[in-house]
Amino acid sequence: MNPEHGQEEHEEHRRADFASKKGEIVLRKHEYDGIQEYDQKLPNWWLVTFFGAVIFYLIYWFAYYQAGLIETDQDAVTNAIAEIQKEKAEALEKTLANLNDKVLVNEWATDGAIVAEGEKIYSQVCIGCHGPELDAPTKLGLSLVDHEWKYGDRPMEIFKLINEGSPAESKGMPPTGAKMIPWGATYSGKQVAQMVAFIISKNPEDFAKFKD
Ligand code: HEC
Repeated sequence: MNPEHGQEEHEEHRRADFASKKGEIVLRKHEYDGIQEYDQKLPNWWLVTFFGAVIFYLIYWFAYYQAGLIETDQDAVTNAIAEIQKEKAEALEKTLANLNDKVLVNEWATDGAIVAEGEKIYSQVCIGCHGPELDAPTKLGLSLVDHEWKYGDRPMEIFKLINEGSPAESKGMPPTGAKMIPWGATYSGKQVAQMVAFIISKNPEDFAKFKD
């Protein structure tokens, strides 16, 4: 565009701080280095969107941050976890209701399918510390075939140890103080019982006293 022509065109517009009428073309009063600025009234659809967003923000800000009327994502996650934990606790209770030393030794450990399930989990996770022969060659965990049961030799005590991990007051395994993880956080009561069945099946003489 020819600058002189442009200049002429601008001269025709009113100079003011802002446009007051729809369709009115106004040139702002200020001018720097020959740069001039238009100020047209914005279209209504734009203004509605803009002020609508501002009003929405104020309402949302109040409801979400001040009044707590809208559930936060954090609350949603916390509630969902609480719900899952409740369901898990109920499932564990159900499993425990039908479980005792004799049932584990006489019913679970003698059932090939149950023992195989326990062995499957054992060889996926427990094997890392307790070894393929259960004798803990790397000393990362205790041997499970040395006829010594640090936290009790009853099947339910072994269940408890696997489910809840080393007791809080335990000093862990010397010399490192390594402890058992509470596997109940990862596995269901049924799966823990399957692992106990597998361990029993590898130590028949230790648990013979619970045989019917
Ligand atoms: C990260 C290593 C690690 C893994 C994986 C692990 N354990 Fe252990 N386990 C240990 C340690 C350490 C101890 C000794 C804890 C203590 O002394 O408090 C232990 C102890 C035990 C005991 C008691 C042994 C005894 O002689 O009294 C049993 C039973 C057991 N673990 C079963 C399992 C099962 C089943 C799994 C798989 C779900 C498993 N462990 C996975 C490290 C591990």
